[in-house]
Amino acid sequence: MGTALPRRDFPPLSDHKDDLARRIEEWHWFHSIDLGDGLVTKGHPPSPTIAEAFPDVAGRSVLDIGAWDGKYSFEAERAGAGRVVALDHYIWRLDHQGRQAYYERCEAEGVLPDAEMIDRGFLMDALPGRTGFDLAREYLDSKVEPVVDDFMTMDLDRLGRFDVVLYFGVLYHMADPLGALRRLRQVTGELAVIETSAVHIPGYEDFSLTEFFAGNELHADYGNWFAPNGAALVGMCRAAGFRRVELKAHSPLPAPEPDPPPAGPSEARRSEARRSEARRSEGRRSARRLSEGRLSAGRPGRWRRRGRPSPEPTGGGAPHPAARPAPVPYRLVAHAHV
Ligand SMILES: C[S@@+](CC[C@H](N)C(=O)[O-])C[C@H]1O[C@@H](n2cnc3c(N)ncnc32)[C@H](O)[C@@H]1O
Repeated sequence: MGTALPRRDFPPLSDHKDDLARRIEEWHWFHSIDLGDGLVTKGHPPSPTIAEAFPDVAGRSVLDIGAWDGKYSFEAERAGAGRVVALDHYIWRLDHQGRQAYYERCEAEGVLPDAEMIDRGFLMDALPGRTGFDLAREYLDSKVEPVVDDFMTMDLDRLGRFDVVLYFGVLYHMADPLGALRRLRQVTGELAVIETSAVHIPGYEDFSLTEFFAGNELHADYGNWFAPNGAALVGMCRAAGFRRVELKAHSPLPAPEPDPPPAGPSEARRSEARRSEARRSEGRRSARRLSEGRLSAGRPGRWRRRGRPSPEPTGGGAPHPAARPAPVPYRLVAHAHV
């Protein structure tokens, strides 16, 4: 007499995968992740800037801070990382509707949202925002380890050290960016890769500058605070204890906008046009310098000064508005070595 087969009370793998695929199709993704079998999640297109600067992780331990749907954690695993931890908490725990209602109340009252409320006011115990990560992890049969915690307050000794730390799209959310980089340094064994929103200020590349956003000027998000220029990003990483910092990649800078000719007497118009042209060609020159990588540090972490910033009109006082270069938002990636 043969032994009875155990009763199957779970669906066969193929049915289960079909069901997973259906839920994956329905989910609202942040990341676009290629899960194989022709299934690609419908999130933002992948960042060519991150792809260009993605480090060699084969055989290394990797921590992905601010993992969200986990695209870069899964990529590290696929690239042969020995161990991958995906850390997040904010977006995984966020009550989006509650936060949106609060923002609308603040806008109606003409006040800015409170920083503490943005950070902690709308976090739930449940993890609705981790659904995408969990679905992708299951579909990929991945071993990536999710950790739910706030990188800024958690016990870093318990988290441990990782050969490579990915810090993509998080720095500009930090009210204390230097403090965040110091914590990043504590958990980095070899290399931290920092991708961030940044500002390019034509003619001021050699100055270490950071733009502060009191409201939602950056990407229409009240939770975005600071965007550094390249020199400031290098300088902050060095101040946080990284020994060598390289700017590895950046998104293309938009071409400077042509200015409309101003109204007024013809001489004023001509000199305005000359100023605009000078500003545009400075923009073109510095965009060229950036794309040729000529903004690299002279010595590790040290920026050479090349002359003075854009000329200001004579006569003292505030520069003429037409002579002031406007900060241009773009994205930067730095490799910070321990
Ligand atoms: C703009 S998203 C970037 C997602 C992903 N790293 C990428 O580059 O595509 C920022 C992420 O950082 C997370 N984050 C923000 N502050 C954090 C903190 N203090 N600790 C852990 N994660 C945080 C957010 O929850 C969110 O998932």
